[in-house]
Amino acid sequence: MQPSDMVHPAVSGLPALRAEIAAYLQVSRGISCSPSQVFVTSGYRHTIALIGHALLKPGDRVWLENPGYPPTRELFRHMQIASVPVAVDRDGLVVSDGIRLAPRARAAVVTPAHQSPLCVSLSLPRRQALLDWAAGNDAWIIEDDYDGEYRYVSRPLPALKSLDRDGRVLYAGTFSKVLFPSLRLAYLVVPEAEVARFEEMTEALAAGSPELTQAIVTAFITEGHFARHIQRMRRLYAERREMTAAGLESVLAGHMQIDSQPGGMHLILRLLGRQSDREFVARMRKEGLYAEALTDWMIEGDAAPALLLNFTNIDSQRTAETLARRMSKLL
Ligand SMILES: Cc1ncc(COP(=O)(O)O)c(C=O)c1O
Repeated sequence: MQPSDMVHPAVSGLPALRAEIAAYLQVSRGISCSPSQVFVTSGYRHTIALIGHALLKPGDRVWLENPGYPPTRELFRHMQIASVPVAVDRDGLVVSDGIRLAPRARAAVVTPAHQSPLCVSLSLPRRQALLDWAAGNDAWIIEDDYDGEYRYVSRPLPALKSLDRDGRVLYAGTFSKVLFPSLRLAYLVVPEAEVARFEEMTEALAAGSPELTQAIVTAFITEGHFARHIQRMRRLYAERREMTAAGLESVLAGHMQIDSQPGGMHLILRLLGRQSDREFVARMRKEGLYAEALTDWMIEGDAAPALLLNFTNIDSQRTAETLARRMSKLL
């Protein structure tokens, strides 16, 4: 480290990291952008706050996926931005419902690769319908691509941003899933025409991320470790997903059914019968086991009861069977 590295960091991110992220997004997510469009943030929430300050105002309405990632609605609530819950089906966000409920909404937040939490992918016709709606209404699309790399049935799908001809998509990426969350490094890609506005906002907030961490991640990418790490993790998680599903099914078939999904880091276990998912996860937590209830991810309305169970730390079919036996005692 040189003395010149110890001054305040560049608020939009280390230039070398912004360049590496732009190059990576081109190769792995099909996104063409220049480094000046990339803003390094300290995580998804920082990214959303930046977008909120730059492009939205109190009283605006925003479509959110229902069910959807709970922090998003919390953040918008604090910004006095109204959430419009829009249903999700097997093709992802039901865009026609959004148009019916709030045609003049200012933005839509979507997780197109693997919907959070249902893990379905937004179909191509829906992607096109969403882009057309945004272009026709000067609305923004916030693409939360938190785990797009973790697809097991095919190569990762290109990002929605790669289809953005009208400069309406703000792309939110993170290192939390492909590396680890305590890094607190994420990034936002903004349309070319909005760069000056975001530069002004990042200057005003001046919440730059630690330069040392950014320099380490930059070297990790430049030296080729990052690409190899992703390949390795995708293979490992694909194996763990298979083993976990097999182990759970061998014990819990008849009580639960596992959704087949193209990607993600958790399984969705549909509870058969009249079990409450909230009560079931409460019983699990008393036993030191962790899952989340799909019901808790609903903004409004009821979901069919299901558990969201992370499989990334389940290292064998036998571990999954042991877990399933403990769960079966709580039925
Ligand atoms: C849906 C979704 N979006 C974004 C993130 C990334 O959040 P962060 O970058 O703040 O770690 C996560 C992480 O859990 C997530 O599940």
